[in-house]
Amino acid sequence: MTILVTGGAGFIGSNFVLDWLAQSDEKVINLDLLTYAGNLGNLKSLEGDARHVFVNGDICDRNLVDELLATHQPRALVHFAAESHVDRSIHGPGAFMRTNIDGTFALLEASRAYWSQLQGEAKAAFRFHHVSTDEVYGSLKPTDPPFAETNPYEPNSPYSASKAASDHLVRAWHHTYGLPVVTTNCSNNYGPYHFPEKLIPLMIVNALAGKPLPVYGDGQQIRDWLYVKDHCSGIRAVLERGTLGETYNIGGWNEKANIDIVKTVCALLDELNPDPAGPYSRLITYVTDRPGHDRRYAIDARKIERELGWRPAETFDTGIRKTVQWYLDNSAWVADVQSGAYKDWIGTNYGGRA
Ligand code: NAD
Ligand code: DAU
Repeated sequence: MTILVTGGAGFIGSNFVLDWLAQSDEKVINLDLLTYAGNLGNLKSLEGDARHVFVNGDICDRNLVDELLATHQPRALVHFAAESHVDRSIHGPGAFMRTNIDGTFALLEASRAYWSQLQGEAKAAFRFHHVSTDEVYGSLKPTDPPFAETNPYEPNSPYSASKAASDHLVRAWHHTYGLPVVTTNCSNNYGPYHFPEKLIPLMIVNALAGKPLPVYGDGQQIRDWLYVKDHCSGIRAVLERGTLGETYNIGGWNEKANIDIVKTVCALLDELNPDPAGPYSRLITYVTDRPGHDRRYAIDARKIERELGWRPAETFDTGIRKTVQWYLDNSAWVADVQSGAYKDWIGTNYGGRA
């Protein structure tokens, strides 16, 4: 048995691949373009492991995807690959339209062709699992209930609009062609291997370097935080037991204002790695807000809890402590990312290959 994962060298994808192979011997074909966000260093522990086949390629490359499906005959495709950073989508939306929309379209068409010629049990078992975000639902007011699966889509950034478009494509391929799809919409993740341009890892690495901790606007924007391993277990639950054509929201009931997240990170660093210069919170610096900044996200996770029995294993307190400790223990990983050295490895490993 085999699964095909896209974007498995990114933050969530690499955590998913590591967890998957820690829990089963089912082979993973990992298709990733290794953009700035893809880091094979995340998967170092799988070097020489025949259960993990890494393919450096583009999800928009239909021929490549066709070939991978035909060769490896996966029972499922789990689709993480995306341009994922809202700030980058504001500065350069083009790559988001290409990967998130065109790329999902290419995967859907390749999967449809592959699935159509499967027979019997293999055909019934096949799944296309689309990994999406809570940002497609737009922004909540302070008193609004959290996002349920039935909320209308109101994406506000180029990133969330491109993810919303991809969700609609997935839905349409199920409705029109019967492609066996499931979609998950998750809230903000945090944990190991998080690229240090997103809020939590940026605050940790900047604090350790004595650099300013840039808080956008008034810092009162609210996100709903989930430890990445809990997102991975939610995806596994939906992949195995989710109802075809359904969407499942995944979240940890952990709404926090950004400024409180930053202060929590500072307090943990004060405890675990005190700075002789003083408390890390001295570095907090308010900066101009993100254009179109969504004020509040929150996930109603009752459907996945009720129907599939999924629950997060971490509270925010346990997850954030583990995360800060992970960054303290993995300064070499951070240094490689910051220096770009993680990219050199790609040249070393792939430069001489046909
Ligand atoms: P990430 O940016 O860390 O990783 C994305 C991965 O996709 C990278 O390894 C990159 O190299 C790869 N990729 C990009 N373009 C590609 C292409 N054209 N072909 C093949 N590979 C390509 O993202 P992430 O934070 O791990 O998010 C993974 C998925 O989960 C995304 O679909 C994102 O929308 C969704 N999501 C993320 C969060 C979050 O908090 N990070 C929350 C909910 C949903
Ligand atoms: O909600 C899920 C989404 O969470 C995912 O779909 C995205 O892929 C993921 O990147 C994340 O998006 P956000 O925009 O919420 O994440 P980010 O880490 O960029 O920012 C979190 C919050 O912190 C947001 O309100 C902006 C704020 N922020 C961010 C940065 C990088 C700051 O105040 N300062 C910063 O320097």
